[in-house]
Formats: sequence, C-alpha cells, structure tokens
Amino acid sequence: MTTLDFDVDPTTTILGIETSCDETAAAVVTGGLDIRSSVVSSQVDLHARFGGVVPEIASRAHVELLTPVVAEALVEAGVDNGGIDAVAATVGPGLIGSLLVGVSAAKALALVWDVPFIGVNHLEAHFYASFLEDPTLEPPMVVLLVSGGHTMLVRFDDHGRYAVLGSTIDDAAGEAFDKVARYLGLGYPGGPAIDREATKGDPEAIAFPRSMIDSDNLDFSFSGLKTSVINHVRKHPDVRTEDVAASFQAAVVDVLVAKAKRAALEAGAKGLCLGGGVAANSLLRERFLDTCTEIGVHGFLPSRAMCTDNAAMVASAAWFRLRDDGPTSLDAGADPNLGIS
Ligand code: KG4
Ligand code: ZN
Repeated sequence: MTTLDFDVDPTTTILGIETSCDETAAAVVTGGLDIRSSVVSSQVDLHARFGGVVPEIASRAHVELLTPVVAEALVEAGVDNGGIDAVAATVGPGLIGSLLVGVSAAKALALVWDVPFIGVNHLEAHFYASFLEDPTLEPPMVVLLVSGGHTMLVRFDDHGRYAVLGSTIDDAAGEAFDKVARYLGLGYPGGPAIDREATKGDPEAIAFPRSMIDSDNLDFSFSGLKTSVINHVRKHPDVRTEDVAASFQAAVVDVLVAKAKRAALEAGAKGLCLGGGVAANSLLRERFLDTCTEIGVHGFLPSRAMCTDNAAMVASAAWFRLRDDGPTSLDAGADPNLGIS
C-alpha cells in the first residue's frame, strides 16, 4: 500500500499522540468520534516545585513515559499493531523539544506499521474535544479556546475551515491564573488553586479592571490585570487571599464571557463551545452556559477531562484531516509557533 492513496471510512482507527506541553497522552479513536481508549500521564508533579513547566524536564519525561502510555492505549482499546490504520501526533504549537518526542515516535510507528502519518495542530485538536462529546454540534460555531498558552475566539465554519476572530495581545488567560496564583502563594497549576480559593471569597471585594471589555475588537489582554493584582496586594498586605482570588477570577471571566457573547452574535453562530484547560473553571462554565441560554445558542462545555490536553482530540482531528487532505509527509517537522488559518 502507498500511504498516499488512503481511503478514510467510519472504521478507520487512528492512534493519536499528544506531547506538546506537560501531558504525555495516547489514544485510539475509530471513525473520528468513537474513543476506544484515552490515556493521559500528567507531569504536573514534576514541574510543581518550579512553579511552571520546565521545557527540558518535560521533553525528558515524554521520552520515558511515551512508550508505556502508547502501550496502555493499545491494550485498553483491544487493538494490536495490525488494527491501527494511521498514526497522528501534535506538530505544534507547543514546546519544541516535547513536540519532537511525539512527532518522532508517531513517524516511527507509521513507518514500522506502513500506515499514514498525520500531523495535527494542537489548537484544532482542542475544537475536536467538543465534537467528540457532542457530535450534534453544527457549524457555524464559535469556540472560546482558553489554555495556559492561548486565549482565542475562533469561528468554525466547517472541518478545516476556521477564522480567528480575536486573541490575547499579551498573556493567555491560563498564564494569568498561573502567575497570580504563584504570587499569592497558591501553588501550581494556578487555575484549579484559584478556582478553589475563590469559592471562599467575595468576587466583588476588589474592583479589578476588565481590560479591553469595551474595545471594538475581539482581542483580550490579561497582563494589566495581573499587575493590578500585584499592586493591590502590595498596597493592602492584609487583604484576604480568597477575596483577591475571587475578584481576579470574576474579572477574567467577565471579559471572556462578554467577548464570547459578542463573537457568537456577530458570527451568527448556532453554537458556542469552550475549550482548553481554563474551560475547567467553575465560574466560567456557569456564566458561559447562562450566556448561551440568554442569546439562544447551543452552548457546549466539554467534560473537565476533555478540556485539558489529551490525545483523543488529536486522533479525532486527525481523522477529519486525513479524510479531507490526506496524510502528512514524513518530511514535515514540528512547529512550536504553529497558528491556525
Ligand atoms: O489546555 P491546557 O491543559 O494546557 C495548555 O496550556 O495547552 O491548559 C492548562 C491551563 C493552566 O494555565 C491551568 O492553570 C489552567 O489551564 N486551568 C484552569 C483551571 N484548570 C486548569 N484555569 C482556571 N480554572 C481552572 N479550574
Ligand atoms: Zn492545550
């Protein structure tokens, strides 16, 4: 078989690999939507004492963890080598050393098994997390993708056809959560820590700025908010940490929800989806669904497991890529700054 004349059908089974940041993940998905297995090994404990992901530690850990994670995904799915029709890996954006581990492994497996290789854009993969859990979603949709590395609003017109409507001009929302949590001594990762702390605090205690909420574009900015938090705590050393956490979280969520609402209305979207690690945030989830009800669009929240990095979304995106564009050349490399267009 040559890997270039490959037919995709509902029985096509893809092994997906994700190593763009600090999760080593492998999954087997059939027909783009049927998750046969999904294994995620988080390195969070390895990076916690440094207060953030250390790229060199991440790539070394991927090298050690990837083989057992892939083996577990194959066993759990009940497929042997002959049962995999294509192998996909995240090719960017992400940490270059980490990406290269997954991409090299996926290419090696594709060569050994004589099946196609598919390079997947990590941002695109996050959109497929929604499809995996709600295949009834219909374009045009607007996706609010909020993670440690990205904050963007994307209009999804069809598989492989996207338009970026707005993105952060400085820090990503998750990055702001992580940096503020670190400053407040709440540990790493910061998002879940602030989420927990905020439940005990008053979201109206401190009026932090809602940066760019009224700007005439759909871009975001979170670095000024982070500075406001630091200045406030310096000026009021006795302030209750839970009030700072709750007020900071309310400021981030207000802006995210206001812009997502505007994007959905302007795009005439039928659906509004959340994606990325910050989509696990309790207040964001609640306010997001309220807003969808208010404007009458189909709101969709992936489960918390599907919000964070996993390989099922990579294998799912790969099925649609393979169907529409065919396999990726084995000469293609990883791109740490890959965008979407
Ligand atoms: O998508 P993700 O797993 O990794 C990438 O960045 O690609 O996102 C991780 C980010 C971290 O910044 C983390 O603090 C944030 O998602 N996060 C949260 C919550 N859970 C994770 N942020 C706010 N609230 C949460 N509950
Ligand atoms: Zn991600």
